[in-house]
This record gives sequence, structure tokens and C-alpha cells, in this order.
Amino acid sequence: MIVDVLKASKMIQKGDVVAIPTETVYGLAADAMNAEAVKKTFQLKKRPADNPLIVHISDLDQLDSIAKTVPPAARKLADAFWPGPITLVMAKDARVPDVVTGGLGTVAVRMPDHQMALHLIRLTGPLTAPSANRSGRPSPTRVSHITEDFGNQLAILDGGDCKIGLESTVLDITSKTPKILRPGAISKEMIEKILETNVQERVGEYEEKPSSPGVKYSHYKPKARVIWISTIPDSVNNSTYYLIHSDSKEFKQTNVIGYRGNFEKMARELYDQFRTADHLAYSFIAVESLPANKISPVLSALRDRINRAAG
Ligand code: TXA
Ligand code: MG
Repeated sequence: MIVDVLKASKMIQKGDVVAIPTETVYGLAADAMNAEAVKKTFQLKKRPADNPLIVHISDLDQLDSIAKTVPPAARKLADAFWPGPITLVMAKDARVPDVVTGGLGTVAVRMPDHQMALHLIRLTGPLTAPSANRSGRPSPTRVSHITEDFGNQLAILDGGDCKIGLESTVLDITSKTPKILRPGAISKEMIEKILETNVQERVGEYEEKPSSPGVKYSHYKPKARVIWISTIPDSVNNSTYYLIHSDSKEFKQTNVIGYRGNFEKMARELYDQFRTADHLAYSFIAVESLPANKISPVLSALRDRINRAAG
């Protein structure tokens, strides 16, 4: 069910849940200060209660009621990147209900770069919004992905296709060395430049006791087996769906998707391609290995999500 911003705000004020657009992926929004409403998002998604949610804000002064103290690093990063795809983990203010953070003493906050979302949050106040997929499904980057997972009953604010397509960078700034818990479109290098300190990032390694609870839960694996390939075969296989980026020629086959070095586009379409490959019942999704150099800030996030799908 498609709703407008005013209707969405009324629903959220009543304690209902509404799917909302952001620049990264769609979120399942609820009033962050209403514990009962927040619980509904966990139930709808079938999300484990110890996997905390991100609080979305529209204005910097909302930070004071969410974070216990706002460290200088948060001010600098907010100045540089908000509204935008970076989430900051800080000490939690006692006013934030414990369900939001899964009982943790920290809270994750971001300001999304989407006019509709910002407009809505100005009407409702801060919103929790996990990605609007059922647990174990890929994050939705367009309205049809949400109805695929939840049917037509869920209220959706239609903001078009998401322009980034991968979830935000999650950065823990509670210790001296900031730590990337989940890579996103704001890269380690971009953060280091603003903070003028080293930033830690683990890619592909998973701790036994993860500091970002979401990391320990299994991620979306398409029914098709995801594999990395280093070269593009001369004759493509009919049971394989190819995502390649170093293509110099046009491919006529509909099962070869070429990005010609446009990694931003590849990121934007990745989850939609996973869903498409499954709809078309391919056995394999072959992804061309990504270059190690830093030609695009989104490379690390792309590699991370494809590794998880392949894992
Ligand atoms: O781009 C995004 O971040 C999207 C859009 C809708 O904003 N949201 C999103 O939410 O991806 P979700 O719930 O699917 O992922 C949130 C991630 C999880 O891995 C969670 O464990 C982590 O953030 N997280 C949340 N609060 C945390 C905290 N206090 N400490 C460490 N990690 C936290
Ligand atoms: Mg998610």
C-alpha cells in the first residue's frame, strides 16, 4: 500500500510501521522512542532481538537526545558526510528504549540523504529503520523488492530506486581508533581524511564475538551459487548469470551484465541482480574479481556483500 509523507507520519505517530526510502536501501521505520512500535519491526522482519537498529535523524540537534555525549569525531563526520551513508556508533542516552539497541550501551545513528525521509523525520522525530527485508533476504533497493518480501499490506513511502544500493558504512567511534564494523559507500580513506587518524577496517574476516551484532547473522545467499571469476570466458555458460566490470565489448547475451568500470552502478544494482538471477533460476552467479586499488570508494562494500553472498 503506497502512502504519502503525511499519512506515513500519522501512522508512525500511532505506533505503526512504514517502509521508507533512503539513499542506501529502503528501511522499515518506526518511532525510535516508542518501544512497542520498535518491537513490531523486529517481529515483522523476524529479526533476532539482540541485533540492534540504526536511529535515523533529520537534524543535528536530535543527536543530543540519542547519544549520551557527542564526541568531536561525530561532529566532524556529520559535518563532512551527513546527510549521507555513514552510521556512527556512540554511547547511548538513557532515553532511547533498550529494544532499539538490543540492550547494548551504544546506539547507531545516521542522517539519510533522501528528501522524503528527512521530511518525514521532521514530522515524527527520530526513526529506527532496519533494512526493509525479511531477515535473510537481500536489502530492498526498490518498491517491488519490499512487496516481494511483505506483500501489499505494508505501508510504503515510494521514493523511487535507491541511488547507492548498499547499506551505510557503520563506524564505531567509541574507542580511540575508530573502527569500521560494516563497509559502505563512505570509505576508510574518506573517513581518515576527515578525522586525520587511522581507521581500522576488517574485510572478509569475522570475529568470534562480533562488535557489530549484525555481522554474526547469516546473510543473504541467492539460491544460485555465487562464485568469483578472474577472467571472462569466451563462450558463456547458459546456467550462469555473469556480473562483470572490465568488459570492453558489448555482450549480446542477456545473462551477461557488464558494468564497464562503473562500480557505483554495480553497487546500485547488486541486490536487484541477485533477485533477478533467482527469479530466472540460474544455477550460478559469476562475479568478476574486483580490482584491489581504490579507484572507487564503494569497492570495499561491494566486495564485502559479494563475499557474504558467496560465503
Ligand atoms: O543504510 C543503512 O544503514 C540502512 C538504511 C535503511 O538506513 N539500514 C540498515 O539497517 O542497513 P540494518 O538494521 O539492516 O543494519 C544495521 C547494522 C547491523 O549490522 C547492526 O548490527 C549494526 O548496524 N548496529 C546497529 N546498532 C549497533 C550498535 N549499537 N553497535 C554496533 N553495531 C550496531
Ligand atoms: Mg539489514
